[in-house]
Amino acid sequence: MSEIIVSHAAKSFKQRQLFSDLSFRVRAKRLTALTGASGSGKSTLLNCIGLLDTLDSGTIHAGSSRVSRMGKEQQRLFRRDALGYMFQNYALIENARVNQNLEVAVAAKGRRAVKMADFDAALARVGLKGRGNEQVYSLSGGEQQRVALARLIIKKPSFILADEPTGALDAANAEVVLGELDRLAQEGAVVMVATHSPQVVSACTDMISLDHLR
Ligand SMILES: Nc1ncnc2c1ncn2[C@@H]1O[C@H](COP(=O)(O)OP(=O)(O)OP(=O)(O)O)[C@@H](O)[C@H]1O
Ligand SMILES: [Mg+2]
Repeated sequence: MSEIIVSHAAKSFKQRQLFSDLSFRVRAKRLTALTGASGSGKSTLLNCIGLLDTLDSGTIHAGSSRVSRMGKEQQRLFRRDALGYMFQNYALIENARVNQNLEVAVAAKGRRAVKMADFDAALARVGLKGRGNEQVYSLSGGEQQRVALARLIIKKPSFILADEPTGALDAANAEVVLGELDRLAQEGAVVMVATHSPQVVSACTDMISLDHLR
């Protein structure tokens, strides 16, 4: 079973230390909340796990791979096949249709393996049934957040890093997002959710806090 293992991690920006000697393990089939005050380093830590930033010291393993030791090609395959990201700012292609954003998720699987019906089913799961042809820039923030989730449902990555995935959502849609992240976890994914929301924390089975680490 896959895990993310962080050992003795430290990260600073200039003189500002975000965390040091941070060690934890994130298990598959669980829903893990990453909490901490605004500015405590939640997004930075997810970025270090997701190959977008690097630790000052310490190690991160995702499954059998040591994240900081991956070569270019291994990084490419890890992003393509194993990593799923829900960013604080959605990271959709704004000037494209919803379905074109979902196609990004299938690059890994080859076009033929995933059909339009899979896109329709994923959109229905996130409450966006029949919205595949709409332009992303015309959607609300919460709708865009749910398109990002539909993309994860199609991709089914082993490691899911969700940064404030319910930040733009009302309580009912937050429940939808949490339910789907939990389902992906139950199917075997490692799921880490950075959040300020007590609703999200109480839906999670595990918690890592970045408070009191400085
Ligand atoms: N590239 C960077 N260069 C310099 N400082 C940075 C950089 N990225 C983040 N920081 C700083 O590191 C701190 C942690 O930022 P981060 O975005 O990880 O916090 P966060 O816990 O995700 O906060 P929030 O809950 O507001 O999203 C902040 O003070 C931020 O300004
Ligand atoms: Mg953040």
